[in-house]
Amino acid sequence: MNDIINEIKRLKEETGTVILAHTYQNPEIIEIADITGDSFALAKKSLALGAKKVIMCGVRFMAESVKILSPETEVILPVPEATCPMAEMISPERVREYKKNNPEAVVVAYINTTAALKAECDVCVTSSSALKIVEKLDAPEILFIPDKNLGSFVKEKFPEKNIVLWDGYCPVHATLTEDDILKAKSEHPEALLAVHPECEKDVVKHADMAGSTAEIIDFALTSEKPVIIGTERGVADYLIPKYPEKKLYHLCPEKLVCKDMKYTTPENILLALKGEGGEKIELPDELIKKAKHSIDEMLRLG
Ligand code: 13P
Ligand code: SF4
Repeated sequence: MNDIINEIKRLKEETGTVILAHTYQNPEIIEIADITGDSFALAKKSLALGAKKVIMCGVRFMAESVKILSPETEVILPVPEATCPMAEMISPERVREYKKNNPEAVVVAYINTTAALKAECDVCVTSSSALKIVEKLDAPEILFIPDKNLGSFVKEKFPEKNIVLWDGYCPVHATLTEDDILKAKSEHPEALLAVHPECEKDVVKHADMAGSTAEIIDFALTSEKPVIIGTERGVADYLIPKYPEKKLYHLCPEKLVCKDMKYTTPENILLALKGEGGEKIELPDELIKKAKHSIDEMLRLG
């Protein structure tokens, strides 16, 4: 394994490649990456990179977002099959139809959407920027796509706004039940609970904090008390051995596995660096232009 890591480091330098990794990647990928973060941080940081080539260790919508923000950069998704199922839970046609029937509505898209969907929307949000952005929107109606759970988390905070939810969901976080939470709390009664807002309402209501993966990490590392980490297991897999002095606990690690996030391995990063594997993200100019508008709005408002 050390040989692979050394070869990755050498080729990264030689080819001017920057490796980005989402916080759900396996710990060995986080160690290889130049930049790690939640979806918002990755989009924001990629903008300032000016890199010749980026390898995005995550899922397809993340690689597309980097390409949309930096069309001149060669962006590689190391495993083409790595997609987020939620990103396709509404079609661009349905959004167009909705807008036609509701011309006053502003369409807010969670960043976990395809580039084609982003092109139909007015503004993107991430889990760490959704509240801040929706608060600033002055519209008679807001359609929030595709995640009903993040959407209802936002809707609850702004009862004065007319927010219509789509019925998409994250197939990983949405598997958690209230019973899972009560069990974890009874096993660690002294601990606080941090969860991702992609979890169901009945789960989020028990949490001491709900936020993006980066916000959960921040909470876990600054908390005086032990913390149960209620998001994809990669976050706890990385934090628990790295910070043994902190009392951090997994929440249902057998359920909280995003298989798409786990496809990336050092071996396929190496192949992508050599130009022998992965998929080069190609998007039509017109699509980039339209989708960029909604990500630019996210960066401006968030
Ligand atoms: P973050 O925006 O918190 O990184 O979440 C991305 C994601 O896919 C959560 O399931
Ligand atoms: Fe998509 Fe859920 Fe995986 Fe995040 S954890 S990438 S929302 S399936």
